[in-house]
Amino acid sequence: MHAIEWSDTYLIGIPELDDEHRRIVAMINAVIAAVEVGLVAKTVLDMIDGMMAVVLPHMATEQNMMKPLASPQGIGHRRKHIAGHAEFIRQINAVRAELAAGDDCKVSLDRLTVFLTVLELINSDYEMVGELRREGLLSPQHGE
Ligand SMILES: [Fe+2]
Repeated sequence: MHAIEWSDTYLIGIPELDDEHRRIVAMINAVIAAVEVGLVAKTVLDMIDGMMAVVLPHMATEQNMMKPLASPQGIGHRRKHIAGHAEFIRQINAVRAELAAGDDCKVSLDRLTVFLTVLELINSDYEMVGELRREGLLSPQHGE
């Protein structure tokens, strides 16, 4: 499995969200390390719960920020971004189910890290900043 190496290219320019992204990445890496050393499933599940305690409010914050988007492009972005959040939760639940069943979750965990970073989620946040700015919904110091 591959731990996520934090890159400043993941910064979206909103300090609160950037800090949470850093924490989420660190927490996923801790989960990966725990699976690699073979910690018992219950411990890993608790770690995932801890991570979700950051992830879910983070997603709620983003979804609240996107609420006022009103242009067709902004609305399209919001729809895609919310679907991305749902997919992330679906993938987390797949990892949880495998752990709970005593199955190998390494493939699912790898898929999750790729989804969070390279493919989709943080990139969606970057696009969100663009949409919010385009509609004048973000103060100028954000996303600079
Ligand atoms: Fe995010």
